[in-house]
Amino acid sequence: MQAGFATNDLVNGSAPLIQVSGLVKHFGGLRAVDGMSMALRRGEMVGLIGPNGAGKTTLFNLIAGALKPTSGEIRIADIEISDEGPEKRIGRGVGRTFQIPRPFPEMTVLENVLTGAQNQSGERFWMNFVGTGRVAAEERAALEKARALLDFVLLAKLQNEPARVLSGGQRKLLELARILMADPEVVLLDEPAAGVNPTLLEFIIDRVRTLNGQGKTILLIEHNMEMVARLCGRVVVMAAGKLLTEGTPAEVSRHPAVVSAYLGGVA
Ligand SMILES: Nc1ncnc2c1ncn2[C@@H]1O[C@H](COP(=O)(O)OP(=O)(O)OP(=O)(O)O)[C@@H](O)[C@H]1O
Ligand SMILES: [Mg+2]
Repeated sequence: MQAGFATNDLVNGSAPLIQVSGLVKHFGGLRAVDGMSMALRRGEMVGLIGPNGAGKTTLFNLIAGALKPTSGEIRIADIEISDEGPEKRIGRGVGRTFQIPRPFPEMTVLENVLTGAQNQSGERFWMNFVGTGRVAAEERAALEKARALLDFVLLAKLQNEPARVLSGGQRKLLELARILMADPEVVLLDEPAAGVNPTLLEFIIDRVRTLNGQGKTILLIEHNMEMVARLCGRVVVMAAGKLLTEGTPAEVSRHPAVVSAYLGGVA
């Protein structure tokens, strides 16, 4: 009875989708992440800002499983997953883009997107012998999905070109398409608009907003505060590996500690 209510609460998502508590990552003597705590609720789009070296990308690496924490806890949908590797996190619905995208340069744009497909029985070589029909069907479905995603990021015309011909901004969009192949529930975007021209910037903002409208939970690292303010109702500020403050874009941008953290970072 009562237990039933509790279970329903969890199923309905009252626990945050991502919860980071007292998270620490040391590199030798450097405390890149130093007791960081934050939560991301289902369907939210949150900005993650902070001066260079604040630990934002390291936090992404910890949430995505690319790094193991020194201590502290990461929960996804209330399950402690700090020890799971990146493949398992993808299976739990975590998708992340890299600050500097590195597509396979000689593979085509389409092939690069296909590398994001997960849990395809076709990836297991023995299925080629025992399950040929199913493999073919899955491969066709993956191909169709990859083409639809390339349409979504406006790269369909370049699908048969090697990825090396893409501009920096197009590489970021390619990466977005690649991670969407795995149907992530939460999308971690590491500076998707850095170094992108103003037209492409507007397009990227539009796509990120569309993804959030489709129900994806989004955590957005971005130095472009205007972009953050346009997209995010809530902003989390990191400095020196810790949570400095959080609030609306207007609240955090006039917060004295935020102002001095940025000035300190520049000095
Ligand atoms: N693999 C690593 N080994 C050693 N030090 C690292 C490693 N990764 C990051 N660092 C250091 O940890 C600190 C935090 O780096 P991180 O990349 O997380 O910062 P950031 O907030 O993403 O900065 P930026 O805005 O410049 O991207 C920096 O001092 C960085 O040099
Ligand atoms: Mg970074």
